Amino acid sequence: MDRRPENMERITTPALAQAFIDQQIADLRAQIGDKKVLLALSGGVDSSVVAALLIKAVGKQLVCVHVNHGLLRKGEPEQVIEVFRNQMNANLVYVDATDRFLDKLAGVSEPEKKRKIIGGEFIEVFAEEARKLDGIDFLAQGTIWPDILESEKGIKAHHNAGGLPEDMKFQLVEPVKILFKDEVRVVGKQLGLPDGMVYRQPFPGPGLGVRCTGAITRDRLEAVRESDAILREEFAKSGLAGKVWQYFTAIPDLKSVGIKDGKRVDEWCAIIRAVNTTDAMTATIEPIPYELLNRIVSRITTEVKGINRVLYDLTPKPTGTIEWE
Ligand code: XMP
Repeated sequence: MDRRPENMERITTPALAQAFIDQQIADLRAQIGDKKVLLALSGGVDSSVVAALLIKAVGKQLVCVHVNHGLLRKGEPEQVIEVFRNQMNANLVYVDATDRFLDKLAGVSEPEKKRKIIGGEFIEVFAEEARKLDGIDFLAQGTIWPDILESEKGIKAHHNAGGLPEDMKFQLVEPVKILFKDEVRVVGKQLGLPDGMVYRQPFPGPGLGVRCTGAITRDRLEAVRESDAILREEFAKSGLAGKVWQYFTAIPDLKSVGIKDGKRVDEWCAIIRAVNTTDAMTATIEPIPYELLNRIVSRITTEVKGINRVLYDLTPKPTGTIEWE
């Protein structure tokens, strides 16, 4: 089915999700036959649901490639391996390309240039892995219905894997392309994916690369990853996690004098961002309870190496963007 039928009922219940899953499994088997399918599996909800559907439909004929560009959040690559390789018995190629990405990014401070390097290197790593595999006919993508509508309106091109080299021609498999995001989540839940994957907050493709202004260094990247993990843990414990649209830490390329263990230190500041929005075009600030803010400050400044201050960004979008780049 290429387009969402006008009268299609919104998938909101396990029964509706199961009917969609059963139909997709039959359609995918008919489309793919005994051929092989390749999927770039980021661990985001769309690609994870596509992977889970394809595993059910064609099992080991699916080859998932998870590229770790070194800019993922704490625990993400481990979760992809645990869920897909260990629990779902998927054919998963895990590529730790951290060094490649960070070497290319070394010394680069211009935001758009950083984005281009990350995007370009991603395609290169993925294409290299695809070339190592024989007899792949299909490429699966996590395209969803709003992507198609936006691309028809000329707002954005939805070709998730666009940019693959000319000689790599695959037929596309897009099993969630008639679904809205909330429906993808209901289907993911019904497929047995963990809540941490199904309900996760938006996370941009360039990852923590858009949360470290200026040239990315390994130590600052580690500090942003650790401080973000603490923030997520505290938001989960306090119940804010299911309520706030997006929340994370960023670490600008800025050091200032502070004191630790009675000694002068010259360290970075971590910035907390917690915003609410419906379409990410504008955003408002979540009022975080003062006590929780204090706990987060205390944990980050004591547990994260290289951080002596924590700031809370009260700037809505506009004038700020959501990310810090
Ligand atoms: P900004 O920073 O522009 O972000 O206010 C708006 C929303 O978009 C997300 N974002 C991205 N998502 N790839 C993505 O998939 C990207 O390159 C990208 N850049 C920003 C951002 O996290 C926020 O939700």
